[in-house]
Amino acid sequence: MSKITIDAARKKSKINRNIYGHFSEHLGRCIYNGVFVGENAKIPNENGMRKDVVEALRNIQVPVLRWPGGCFADEYHWKDGIGPKETRKRMVNTNWGGVTEDNSFGTHEFMELCRQLGCQPYVNGNVGSGTVQEMSEWVEYMNFDGLSPMTELRKANGSEKPWGVKYFGVGNENWGCGGNMRPEYYADLFRRYQTFARNYGENKLCRIACGPNGADYNWTDKVMASAGPFMDALTLHYYTVPGTWEKKGHATGFDEAQYYDTLKKALFMEELISNHTQVMNKYDPKHRVGLIVDEWGTWYDVEPGTNPGFLYQQNTMRDAMVAALTLNIFNQHSDRVVMANIAQMVNVLQAVILTEGDKMLLTPTYHVFDLYKAHQDAELVDSFVESAQIGTEGEEFPQLSVSASVDEKGVLHLTAANTSLTGSEPVECRLLNKEAGKVSARILAGAMDAHNTFDAPNAVQPEPFDKVTVKGETLTFTMPACSIVEITVE
Ligand code: AHR
Repeated sequence: MSKITIDAARKKSKINRNIYGHFSEHLGRCIYNGVFVGENAKIPNENGMRKDVVEALRNIQVPVLRWPGGCFADEYHWKDGIGPKETRKRMVNTNWGGVTEDNSFGTHEFMELCRQLGCQPYVNGNVGSGTVQEMSEWVEYMNFDGLSPMTELRKANGSEKPWGVKYFGVGNENWGCGGNMRPEYYADLFRRYQTFARNYGENKLCRIACGPNGADYNWTDKVMASAGPFMDALTLHYYTVPGTWEKKGHATGFDEAQYYDTLKKALFMEELISNHTQVMNKYDPKHRVGLIVDEWGTWYDVEPGTNPGFLYQQNTMRDAMVAALTLNIFNQHSDRVVMANIAQMVNVLQAVILTEGDKMLLTPTYHVFDLYKAHQDAELVDSFVESAQIGTEGEEFPQLSVSASVDEKGVLHLTAANTSLTGSEPVECRLLNKEAGKVSARILAGAMDAHNTFDAPNAVQPEPFDKVTVKGETLTFTMPACSIVEITVE
């Protein structure tokens, strides 16, 4: 029996809705054929965006979308992606498969996608191979409402009004694909580039600095020491790779030990956030600078027969579990984590949607975002868990992962994941300072490698969960093996 105690009166921090953000890069079939098919496609679309994909994404309330990369961002020259499509300059996408990029999806198309999704744009600028002037002009093009060469250009390209982009990244992985820089050098570049990324009108930019690769605490220390006062947020990238970078392991067909080891690696996010927060606290004890985990998720060997540069992988209940654990961690750290962006939205890495021609499926990870969406902008409340340790020998971790929040109507939302593959788990959940009124719940459960295919797209999907009994202040329920529940207490 596992026990959870939730104190609804002990509010800890607001769960920024942007924690449920996404990432879309010019990589494989994420943008092209994933979300964007062009106006002339047979696949039903609105201004070139797939209607089925947009509708599904609207359902999970995508709050923010990062674009155009990733590694692609530091090779991207935004002026190549505006104006008449026939004359847009082509380029080679050297990072991702060496394919020719025709730039038919550019700034205007991205803003149109965000409009249709009802989300905030997060634009990542080019420090690695771009100039200060190029970055400065992009911000002016997107945000200035006065008379200027950039606003004239924007208007000539069909957008009378600026978009008011708030989230702006100054480089990506500049310790690696974004220029192989040392933190001291990047910190200086950040100070310089961000100076010319201006605020226009009422719009105050959130200037986002490139943060560390996983556990590179030295990067955080050096960048915060020098550039901390100039930034609003610092990023962190961490991927869950079951094996090694050379031999990552497959998305399906894994064994139980690999399942548990993958979850253990996903849980490393907890340590990373705590440790980077400690380093940040040295320079920013008041938490003015937010931590943005703008790339996270599982990374496996690509599906057999697919382009190795396209990073296309299946998605199973193991991925759903990684998402559930990670989102619970982000919720628990919402005093510092202000945004996160799963990599990537469609057809790439831990995607929430896969497409094949005109077909589309929702992955188990998508359903976790659906189960968790009520946490967006709610107040995290104190939760305490007592559960067994589980996993492979020497690598054990707690069997149950939870987070709880109270929304503005006073409704309590609990998300819990039972990571065990062996047998169901009875759970007793005690509520303090909250009466158990109307209770409703949904569950996502299945074998560890259960997944959806284009022939069976609904093999894994949430079901109503009517097994919660209420007695006084205590909820009791039994979670099947490998399951995730969302419980709502009105
Ligand atoms: O998400 C795929 C790649 O992973 C991104 O382009 C890069 O930033 C990271 O290394």
